[in-house]
Amino acid sequence: MTEKIEIRHRFSQLVENIERQGDNLTIQRPNLTPISFAAPNTHCADALMLLDGDGTTRQNLIAIAGEDDTPNAAEIIDYYLGRFFYGRLLKWEITQDGECIASLSSHDNQMGPKEIETPPQSLTLSRFDCLHRDGENIILESAESCAQIVLSSRAIALLGSLSEHPEDLVARAFCEALWRLGFLEDGSKEETPNRMTWQFHDKFMHEMSRSHRDDKTPGATYRFKGVITSPPALKPDMVGDPVSLPEVDDADIRESSASLHEILERRMSGRDYGSQCLTFADLSGFLYRVARIKQVSPHPSQDVLRRPFPSGGSIHELEFYVAVRQCEGLKPGFYHYQGIAHRLLHLPDSEAASQKMHMISAACLGQPEAPADALIVISSRLPRIAWKYEGISYRTSMLNAGVALQTMYLVATDMGLQGCANGLGDSRIFEKVTGLDPFEETSIAEFALSAPL
Ligand SMILES: Cc1cc2nc3c(=O)[nH]c(=O)nc-3n(C[C@H](O)[C@H](O)[C@H](O)COP(=O)(O)O)c2cc1C
Repeated sequence: MTEKIEIRHRFSQLVENIERQGDNLTIQRPNLTPISFAAPNTHCADALMLLDGDGTTRQNLIAIAGEDDTPNAAEIIDYYLGRFFYGRLLKWEITQDGECIASLSSHDNQMGPKEIETPPQSLTLSRFDCLHRDGENIILESAESCAQIVLSSRAIALLGSLSEHPEDLVARAFCEALWRLGFLEDGSKEETPNRMTWQFHDKFMHEMSRSHRDDKTPGATYRFKGVITSPPALKPDMVGDPVSLPEVDDADIRESSASLHEILERRMSGRDYGSQCLTFADLSGFLYRVARIKQVSPHPSQDVLRRPFPSGGSIHELEFYVAVRQCEGLKPGFYHYQGIAHRLLHLPDSEAASQKMHMISAACLGQPEAPADALIVISSRLPRIAWKYEGISYRTSMLNAGVALQTMYLVATDMGLQGCANGLGDSRIFEKVTGLDPFEETSIAEFALSAPL
């Protein structure tokens, strides 16, 4: 056993098969026009035919194309590999003694093997690489290379072996092949200051939720249609005591509201709390103007909503809660806001959780001794938005939360209330007090709200 590690080139799933008549080759593609071309000579045609089926190495392609001393065989093969790769007609496998142990598919046409460069001496996983399961496969994915690679258990063992046994030549050869395919990096190279600032999760979410991965179109793919039903637009009642909110009069708001320009000019983060306490009427008016549900539009597959602020796909997966510390006429505790009925639902045994949320919020506003009167907690029912959108669900929820935060800033300003977004919040406290499965709903943003100074 030689334990030879090689990179094999083969046609991707975008090729049905390749047909040959003499030196004329035709690549048949599912639902696309075939690509026909004349190979420069018979040996070259022989070589390119090998990309069908299990494929072969670049060296072998060059050797076959170079039979009878064809000049420039390497150039010719590299030309065709480059063209095929650009058309996303190729995929690559790492083999050990001819057996595939890792299989790479590229998410764009920029990602192909670096076959002739010399790998660095020190090879290591990148900070932006991650190993995870997808269905039955173990995948190595990198936020820096637009590709993913399915690893066999043998490949995982070889990858793990390199750092512990740098003398293991097979592990070294395998890691060199991974490097050629865009994974692993030079462990001796210092990061640039800009790169240093990106954490794994920042980069990973950024890369995975933008649209430059051309085989994985993110957006409205409705991948769960017919598989699971979309969670309802109106969140079912939680367990708790309903609390009616004081009525809000639209005409009063219209009369007292300042111009948009004035509100924008006046708006600032308010953290200076005086002796006054938030009133029930102000809390009611605030929730009404920010988060009430104005309209439910039924749809056979997924109902959508209207609220005062916009939301991706009009799905409105965001829910609003209030952690009340002090509000005239309202017991301290944690409340869910029901935007359709414009009322609150007081969750049982929630005062301690509400206090903890306030402690975190006050610390994050840089004033641990001065918590706000109320903390608006925004949660996301992610399965509702993920039912429609693929690749961008969390991103869209974050964007929606940003929109909601600005709406809260503007309304608070117009009402003369003190409001400030929070950079931190503890989703675990939310999950505990609500009893919700975090995969069903979890808190994603907070806004501290208090009475005028
Ligand atoms: C998403 C977001 C998070 C914020 N997080 C905090 C925070 O954790 N603590 C804080 O004191 N202010 C926070 N702020 C308020 C900013 O510090 C504030 O907007 C900025 O200093 C500009 O001041 P201005 O809002 O008065 O214009 C946050 C603002 C936003 C939009």
